[in-house]
Amino acid sequence: MSGDATDLGLRQEPRRFGGGRLAFFGGLQRVSAALGGRAFYRAAFLAPGRFRVRHETVITPGLAPELEAFRIVQLSDPHAGPFLGRGDLSAVVEACNALDPDLVVLTGDLITKRAEESYLLLEDLAGLRARRGSFGVFGNHDYRGRREREIAARFEAEAGLRFLLDESVRFGEGPGAVALVGLEDLEEAKQVDLQRARHAVRAGDVEVVLCHNPAGGPALAAAGCALVLSGHSHGHQIDLPLVRRLAPAHPGDRVERDGAVLLTSRGLGALGVPLRLRSPAEIVVVDLSRGGGERAR
Ligand SMILES: [Fe+2]
Ligand SMILES: [Fe+2]
Repeated sequence: MSGDATDLGLRQEPRRFGGGRLAFFGGLQRVSAALGGRAFYRAAFLAPGRFRVRHETVITPGLAPELEAFRIVQLSDPHAGPFLGRGDLSAVVEACNALDPDLVVLTGDLITKRAEESYLLLEDLAGLRARRGSFGVFGNHDYRGRREREIAARFEAEAGLRFLLDESVRFGEGPGAVALVGLEDLEEAKQVDLQRARHAVRAGDVEVVLCHNPAGGPALAAAGCALVLSGHSHGHQIDLPLVRRLAPAHPGDRVERDGAVLLTSRGLGALGVPLRLRSPAEIVVVDLSRGGGERAR
């Protein structure tokens, strides 16, 4: 898929598996679910103390002084479905709220296979509390059935979570405000329009981009963004050499490039089997700082 004038070459070719491999993983998923995969996954990876709370500080010297220690908590890739359902994110939501965030962001892949699975998350995500609100983008899985507008409307109405579909919002007044930009998925959206997405961004803003696929990071860094938050890779989920190539490429937890910081979350959910190995489920806590030893939170 080639880029056009507005996506700045961000588009990615969708990964497609052949019918045999899809049938194999579908069967594995059904058997794992029938054997109690969901209860196992919740106890092993989503119970208090079983997921990682990963702290990152990002130095953004242009940040307005009154926004020092602006805190963003990122959730990603819950993949509701056979291994994650209603109530399974309760401990995660509780941990998020205890971090007292300015923003909570969800970086896509709400579902496993069916659009309706996203609604399994409504109740849990409605419990998120952030001073300046909860925002999200969709991942490649979320375009199944092309119902993303309907899903976005329902999450905004029932969970107070607003999806940014090539849109942006700005926090703070004047120079050094935080501009949050949400991009449509680079593989599955009909269009990715960075120019349109940046409509609220002003010169001198600290631009934070939600981009499900970490492959977009380098182009976004080159385009002047300060921070890009991604998911999609699951940190390979089962991080063993032979299994690694089945999952999307994981560029690393934190990459610094062209003055930008690119953070990729390992996410919360699982695909194929209710297991993670050397890749814990995680939430990522990002504190923005002007640097120079200002007040820590
Ligand atoms: Fe994912
Ligand atoms: Fe994904």
